[in-house]
This record gives sequence, C-alpha cells and structure tokens, in this order.
Amino acid sequence: MTSGRTPLIAGNWKMHKTVEEAEAFIQGLLPRVSSVEGVDVGVCVPFTALQAMVDSTRGSRVDVYAQTMHETTHGAFTGEVSAPMLSELDVHGVVLGHSERRQLFGETDRALSQKMLAAFDAGLQPILCVGETEEERAREETERKLRNQVQEGLERLGPEQIARVVIAYEPIWAIGTGVVATPEQAQDAVAFVRALVGDKAPEAARQVRVLYGGSVKPDNAAELLALPDVDGALVGGASLEPGAFAQIVGAATA
Ligand code: PGA
Repeated sequence: MTSGRTPLIAGNWKMHKTVEEAEAFIQGLLPRVSSVEGVDVGVCVPFTALQAMVDSTRGSRVDVYAQTMHETTHGAFTGEVSAPMLSELDVHGVVLGHSERRQLFGETDRALSQKMLAAFDAGLQPILCVGETEEERAREETERKLRNQVQEGLERLGPEQIARVVIAYEPIWAIGTGVVATPEQAQDAVAFVRALVGDKAPEAARQVRVLYGGSVKPDNAAELLALPDVDGALVGGASLEPGAFAQIVGAATA
C-alpha cells in the first residue's frame, strides 16, 4: 500500500456460531488465507468461542478479537467481561462502540473513552466503531456525529496509543441492509475521521488505520478497499462463511 499502512480485514460474527460452528469456520478459513501477504486478518467472536478460536489460530495469520468489554477491571457488573480477562486468554483485541452496542445496549461515548484506555492497559488492540444514522446524514449532521464519537473515544489516550488505534467508520444505514456507502461517501467520511485524529495527534493521523464497515461483500470489497484512506473493512454478514470472507481478504491485497 502506498500509505504504508497494513490493511486489516476483520469479520464481526455478532451473536453467531457455537464453538463447534466456529471451529468448522476456522478450519475452512485458515487454508484460504495462509498464503495471503500484506494484510492483517481478524475474527471478532462471541465470548464463548474466544478460547477455542485463540487455540485454533495460534501460529496462523488470523487474530482473535472480542466484540465488547467492560471499562473497569473487575467489580459487581453481572454478565460483564473485563480487559484483563480477555488478555489472559491471549485475545488480540476488542471491538468497542459497535452501533448495535450503542443502540441496543446503551453504550455511551463516556464509557467508551474509558474502555479505549482499559484496552491499551491490558495490551489489547481496540477497534473503535463510529458512524451516523440515516436521519443524521439527511440532516447533514454526519461530521458533527463523527467528531463527537472520535474525540470522546480518543480522549484519554496519548499520541503513541492514538497511532495504534483502529477506527471503523460504519454508517448505521449501511449495516446489515445491503445498502453500501458509495465510494465517495466512504472516502469522504474515512478521510474526515483521519483528519479528526490529526487534530488530536498530527503524527498519528498517518499511521492510524481507518476501516469501512457496512454491507461489505466479495463483489464490492475491491472498490472500497482501493480508496486512498480506507485501510480495510469490518465485515458482518459476509464474514460468516469462510469462502466469502477469504475473498474479501484477497481483495485487500489487490
Ligand atoms: P454488515 O455488518 O457487513 O452485515 O453490514 C457490519 C458490522 O456491523 O460491522
């Protein structure tokens, strides 16, 4: 890549796959991506499959991510999982602030600013998700929304941490709808996110990886991944099947 940034293709399984199904997936994926070079590959799996996926991907090019975590290390938070619990399993990273967590489970920007720091403290790679609703785009509030989400998400981090963050721009109207952002919409928003990072840490803006997410499929991936500021993809539905996901990984090397 001319940018010098290694693209990342991360599959977000959401609440899909038992351990048995996850094992079948990974046995299908590993041979398909073993010879692919110049791209990082991640799978974001349910808590229950983390240990099995860490074991099954050890020594491979696939990294395992959790899909959320709590901002504190321990405490009376029934049902929650902390960053040290994830890093103990050798999990590589964690998705933070996915729009489903924000909309359905009340995750706030304030909690996310703490989660980002907690992830780094535990040695986890965070993927911070940001993006506007359809109504916000129609009201021309996309930039305001992204500014708030990026500023809050990075608030507690130093410049060196900011350079290592991954941010996924995911317009909510494109998630799970089959309606993908146009190349121009994706490039504009991702470049805007990068500029916001630059406001906070000028050096980091060149290094930080910004992904696009929202209805990425094998047939539209190449066009999106070729955009100058897009450093990879966060893939939902098309990441559930090893063949389709491997095709998207392949598109990142083109
Ligand atoms: P999708 O989901 O690819 O199914 O639109 C993307 C996401 O939610 O990360």
